[in-house]
Amino acid sequence: MHFTTSALLLAASTLTTAQTYTNSPSTKRGLVFVPNSLYPGDNQVWVQPGSDLTWYYNYGVQPSPAYANRSQEEFEFVPMLWSPTTTFLSDVTALIKGGRNISHILAYNEPDGTAATGGSNITPEVAAANWISQIEPLRKLGVKTGAPAVTAAGATWLQEFFAACASQGTNCTADFFPVHSYDNWGGLSYHITTMHSNYPDAPVWVTEYAYSNQTLEVTQDFFNQSASYMDNLTYVDRYAWFGTFRTEVSNVGPNAAFLNNQGKLTDMGEWWVGKAATGVQPGGSSSAAGRNAVEMGLGLVAAAVVGLLAL
Ligand SMILES: *[C@@H]1O[C@H](CO)[C@@H](O)[C@H](O)[C@H]1NC(C)=O
Ligand SMILES: *[C@@H]1O[C@H](CO)[C@@H](O)[C@H](O)[C@H]1NC(C)=O
Ligand SMILES: *[C@@H]1O[C@H](CO)[C@@H](O)[C@H](O)[C@H]1NC(C)=O
Ligand SMILES: *[C@@H]1O[C@H](CO)[C@@H](O)[C@H](O)[C@H]1NC(C)=O
Ligand SMILES: *[C@@H]1O[C@H](CO)[C@@H](O)[C@H](O)[C@H]1NC(C)=O
Ligand SMILES: *[C@@H]1O[C@H](CO)[C@@H](O)[C@H](O)[C@H]1NC(C)=O
Repeated sequence: MHFTTSALLLAASTLTTAQTYTNSPSTKRGLVFVPNSLYPGDNQVWVQPGSDLTWYYNYGVQPSPAYANRSQEEFEFVPMLWSPTTTFLSDVTALIKGGRNISHILAYNEPDGTAATGGSNITPEVAAANWISQIEPLRKLGVKTGAPAVTAAGATWLQEFFAACASQGTNCTADFFPVHSYDNWGGLSYHITTMHSNYPDAPVWVTEYAYSNQTLEVTQDFFNQSASYMDNLTYVDRYAWFGTFRTEVSNVGPNAAFLNNQGKLTDMGEWWVGKAATGVQPGGSSSAAGRNAVEMGLGLVAAAVVGLLAL
């Protein structure tokens, strides 16, 4: 994840209105999976009966054990090549040979961002060389591929990436273009429409978004407005909120979290999976059992928080 602010995006905040938007069921919604090893029960709320969520990614190449009993058709796993590796091609090929219909993959998490903000911090040249060896053969098998998932400030990096491919003798082709945004609705819509005007021939996937560090009311208004907006935009194929975790580990502010500290879905969490609000707010204290687990597993908690911050 990554944050940007600019006068333009701040000005866009004045667009917020008091209008309410109705969340209709959406097939575009997916899960940015941030597992919590202390509370494995949390992982199942996203796939409860009737959930709207149709796909997930976990920043890695292997499906998550928590969803091992979900077929690709029920809950599509999208492998990600997080940063250059020489094993991505063989790993994805093995999944396909094993009978899993991998139809989409993601490439490079915030390659233009530093490790401090969870970026993979690689040059366009290195990314291009690795794409040519690991991604192009999968595209030839018919696997649809996301362009490098740059931060909201990554337009130049992306241009340089495609130029680097060309100078290495290959036209790298992306089948869809990921967008990340932590700005208000005006900022999010600006990032989406700009990506689409730069690359008009392919759809957009919003693979990380939230409006970080806002009041609950502002966050809920943003949530409804942005979901309705992306459902309406025909060139946005998929979107995934960054906040599918407990309030206590949120690095995007407490109100962006979809779970309270007892693992209950907040109102936004319920709306996200296509259910009605039940009045649960973010925050609250951990359950007694949870607190004991936390005390016994402090190292684990620290690791989970560090892992989250590293996204
Ligand atoms: C958001 O949408 C839900 C579901 O349609 C609705 O109940 C709620 O009032 C909306 N909230 C805001 C702040 O617009
Ligand atoms: C899938 O496995 C999880 C545990 O990993 C379990 O909680 C869940 O109920 C299982 N779902 C189904 C549909 O079998
Ligand atoms: C694989 O998944 C894609 C996209 O969901 C679908 O179009 C295709 O028919 C599937 N292929 C097989 C062999 O099931
Ligand atoms: C890449 O695409 C351009 C424009 O379509 C074309 O002129 C060029 O020959 C292509 N290069 C390769 C190596 O395929
Ligand atoms: C999406 O379309 C619906 C139906 O036309 C409309 O009511 C709603 O306001 C639109 N959402 C946004 C954010 O423009
Ligand atoms: C949001 O708050 C978190 C702490 O909860 C902080 O690390 C982050 O930098 C803040 N983000 C912005 C954009 O202010």
